[in-house]
Amino acid sequence: MLESGIPRIIGHRGVRKLAPENSLSGVREAARQGARWVELDVTLLGDGTPVIHHDDDLARLCGRPQPLRSLSLADLPRIDIGSHYRDSPPEPLPTLTEMLALLDELEMGLNLEVKDHGEDPRYVIQQIVPIIERFDPERLILSSFSSEQLRQCQLLLPDLRRGLITARLPPDWPLLLENLGIYSVHYRWQALRDKELALLTATGRPVICWTVNNRIAGERLLRKGVTAIITDDPRPFSRFL
Ligand code: G3P
Ligand code: MG
Repeated sequence: MLESGIPRIIGHRGVRKLAPENSLSGVREAARQGARWVELDVTLLGDGTPVIHHDDDLARLCGRPQPLRSLSLADLPRIDIGSHYRDSPPEPLPTLTEMLALLDELEMGLNLEVKDHGEDPRYVIQQIVPIIERFDPERLILSSFSSEQLRQCQLLLPDLRRGLITARLPPDWPLLLENLGIYSVHYRWQALRDKELALLTATGRPVICWTVNNRIAGERLLRKGVTAIITDDPRPFSRFL
């Protein structure tokens, strides 16, 4: 664990290789594997309920192309996001509230990635903030690819640590990071050059790489000064847990 409180290994969508992604059982499995933090995706149902889910529909995880915007909280008990994964038992799609309660119970930290499925960024962040503001801020980083979502979060919850997710920083990145009050940069690891890592590290910001599933690459990144890696499977990185 570093001074920032961020562990060096963060489970991706829970521990996606070992359990259903973005699920309560997946987070319990991450804890069993020794991961202290997980990365999870949050998106909205049609009634504005924030749920832990990557896509904007149920096609990939449930085999039916139903958009999330057509669903409401009352529909969740009937949505099974467990069975698609090997022989896992059925389990309902979790709300953000349920997931935060589990993370509290397990004393785990969270990198919450807010998905941008085209909704108004202000509306999305307005639905999420009242829920996350009750969670321990020392165990939370909110991240997004969307600078508009990050800007809205900066307005509504300025003290919350915010991470910019990117596969390539724009030329004006120093100004962008400064203006949005960005705490950490979450870089697609294959695109991160040594020079960029050095420049980012020199700003004092943690650099977190996703999604690193290769042991040699992951160890090299951590050696080079990357703060943490987000991985589908923490087992190859057990010595960093
Ligand atoms: O948080 C970084 C990473 O999760 C972004 O990609 O598609 O797995 O959410 P994705
Ligand atoms: Mg994600």
